[in-house]
Amino acid sequence: MTRRAFRAEILSVPHDPARAGPDAVRHHADGMLVVEDGLVVARGAWSELHARFAGVPVETFAGGLIVPGFVDAHVHYPQTERIASHGEQLLHWLERHIFPAEAGFADRAHADAVAAFFLDELLRNGTTSALVFATVHAASVDALFEAALARNMRIVSGKVLMDLGPETLRDTPASGRADTEALIARWRGRGRLGYAVTPRFALTSTDAQLADAGRLLAEHPEVLMHTHLAENPGEIAAVGARFADARDYLDVYDRFGLVGPRSVFAHCVHMSDAALARMAQAGAGIALCPTSNLFLGSGLFDLAAIDCHGIGIGIGTDIGAGTSFSVLHTLGEAYKIGQLRGHSLDPFRALHLATAGGARIMGIGDRVGALEPGQEADFAVLDCAATPLLARRTAGAPLFDRLFALQILGDDRAIAATYVAGRRAYARSGS
Ligand code: GUN
Ligand code: ZN
Repeated sequence: MTRRAFRAEILSVPHDPARAGPDAVRHHADGMLVVEDGLVVARGAWSELHARFAGVPVETFAGGLIVPGFVDAHVHYPQTERIASHGEQLLHWLERHIFPAEAGFADRAHADAVAAFFLDELLRNGTTSALVFATVHAASVDALFEAALARNMRIVSGKVLMDLGPETLRDTPASGRADTEALIARWRGRGRLGYAVTPRFALTSTDAQLADAGRLLAEHPEVLMHTHLAENPGEIAAVGARFADARDYLDVYDRFGLVGPRSVFAHCVHMSDAALARMAQAGAGIALCPTSNLFLGSGLFDLAAIDCHGIGIGIGTDIGAGTSFSVLHTLGEAYKIGQLRGHSLDPFRALHLATAGGARIMGIGDRVGALEPGQEADFAVLDCAATPLLARRTAGAPLFDRLFALQILGDDRAIAATYVAGRRAYARSGS
């Protein structure tokens, strides 16, 4: 039994403030977090807890703000080196930049190198859990999972199914199934890893493969389904042309058994009320990806409309269409999209979506995302004085203002340290 304690200001938002109100927020101006064998055993005010845990070694973060490790609910690790690629909208960008880059993942050594860099970049940004696209190559998942296992991170991923992809990146329904089955069997119960059946999107799979993805999901009750939905006008037009008899884009997935409580759909920028109602009824989740939507010119998601249906929401960086690994920065862009939609995103709610909200749609909400006793002790230590401007803006400011300033002005520089299961996994130099 190894007990350790941490002393700092502590903030977590286990419930959605849009539904739970102010009771959603847990805050201790001078807090204590006690960790035993990687799990939170207590969290509260220092004054109330320290006598009970006398003798436990304490690490103090003066001026630090502990929050749950960020949950990136949609990101592509093989696109790390293609971030910031200039060009047109989604379908052209995929052809020109992304498919050639993903073809390089046939080389296992390349996949290993990018997976290591990617996970270290998540940690540098305070992200401890993620739902990750790999490539069509089964070994690209092995590379990511091995690197995640070495870092003890909570990563959910899967081999991409795309039998209508470009020639260099094509599987078949049979090989896609065989690779998926083998990966599920190989990685089941190892570390903090999970599997997601991952059809890229409706356009890159035949009907036969989409139907088989639905069967794989039904046959493996512990896995997620992860795909893209209603992201970009060009994509939506192409889906409409191919599936002319479908009610809408969601219906394409629905008819193949891909819409349920273990489904996570990235984007959902252009959704009808009926489609949102169906998602809510099915218990599916949405990963909102604001920097990606702006970068590709996809559109402005409608958080108020999604909220009308009470759908579970997480936040995705969507690297490499997304433009930052920083979830803090991504929340700032979500705020700006809200402003353009006439909706003001509350900073506590933003933090909830980027932690417990994302964890919930990934089916890991009981394990991470809120630093509740019994949960895994994944956390980031934020520094409100990380830059001269942040220091000036936040000096003496109330928590609401400091949290919002971190989302508007902060990025990797504001992450003083990241802890995974109670162990330091990253520390900013000088921290
Ligand atoms: N839709 C299908 N594939 C992709 C991808 O790699 N990135 C994004 N943003 N959308 C997609
Ligand atoms: Zn994506």
